[in-house]
Amino acid sequence: MPSWSNKPSGTMTAAVLTSLGAHPPSACFTIDQAYPKPTLPSGDWVLVRVRAAGLNRAELRGRNGDAPAPAEFGISTSEYHEDPPKILGEKSVGTVETAGASTPFHPGDPVAGWVYGGGKAHDGAYAQYTLCHSRRRFPIPPTSLPWDVLGGIFTSMWTAWGSLFDAAEPNRGSTLLVHGGTSSLSLWAILLATDHPCTVIATTRQEDKAAKLQDAGAHHVLLESDLDARLRPPVPKGADRILEPVGPAQILNVALPHLARRRDGRAVQGVEPGPTSRRRTSRRRGT
Ligand SMILES: NC(=O)c1ccc[n+]([C@@H]2O[C@H](COP(=O)([O-])OP(=O)(O)OC[C@H]3O[C@@H](n4cnc5c(N)ncnc54)[C@H](OP(=O)(O)O)[C@@H]3O)[C@@H](O)[C@H]2O)c1
Repeated sequence: MPSWSNKPSGTMTAAVLTSLGAHPPSACFTIDQAYPKPTLPSGDWVLVRVRAAGLNRAELRGRNGDAPAPAEFGISTSEYHEDPPKILGEKSVGTVETAGASTPFHPGDPVAGWVYGGGKAHDGAYAQYTLCHSRRRFPIPPTSLPWDVLGGIFTSMWTAWGSLFDAAEPNRGSTLLVHGGTSSLSLWAILLATDHPCTVIATTRQEDKAAKLQDAGAHHVLLESDLDARLRPPVPKGADRILEPVGPAQILNVALPHLARRRDGRAVQGVEPGPTSRRRTSRRRGT
């Protein structure tokens, strides 16, 4: 629950994170059929009946007990804390159950959106209902796509769009290196960039994923281990735009050396995870 005023009303079913880092991943969760159903903290919020929740790497970090980065809390940064979330689930699609008076929504509207911090600022979407600030909910246009497909589309596509066109700003004809090309974010970036059009070089650590990247439209697929040796031959001038979602540590040894070959280059990296790990911290305490 958020620290701001929110009185639960009734109960709902939710997957509660009870065992950090357990294997298999399903062992991390306990299904609670009587978890408090939230109500709107203010007229700016909506309560959404969740039809599908997406998955992303930030939730894997949360599930493993890694501390979040303050930036992951976005518009809820004042709520920052390192405690484990109770209900993960950053992104979801569903229908509006209750609409705050100051929102443009009505009960029954199909909506997509996300909560910040993978369910850490307040409970996330691995539940029957989830709260969302209306600034982070958007109407879903008429579509025949099923909920489970819609659940995997919106946040990764928005993030890829923003990373590419608001941050990297490739020119038509730019060469984009997508490091970690098989991530859901990167696959959207490949689709959007080839459409722009850009020449796209995508990397993977696993040879058997190369065909998937080619199917998505990547013009060149490089194995991680060959990256330094083989970037020049496919594109003589190197890349002028680099998308680095794998992590900031990679920016030094992958992105910048390639960008250094270009005067007009730009690299976009993902959010830096928190400086500490709860699991590491607790191990240190235990020794
Ligand atoms: N998905 C979203 O909606 C979303 C939204 C906001 C931010 N983000 C951020 O974007 C990043 C990617 O998230 P995601 O959910 O799209 O990821 P994901 O689908 O879980 O994929 C991660 C990919 O990274 C590659 N990878 C992992 N570790 C690597 C390493 N050490 N070196 C090289 N490649 C490595 C893997 O590719 P191979 O196995 O093929 O090598 C894997 O396919 C995360 O930082 C996440 O927080 C994602």
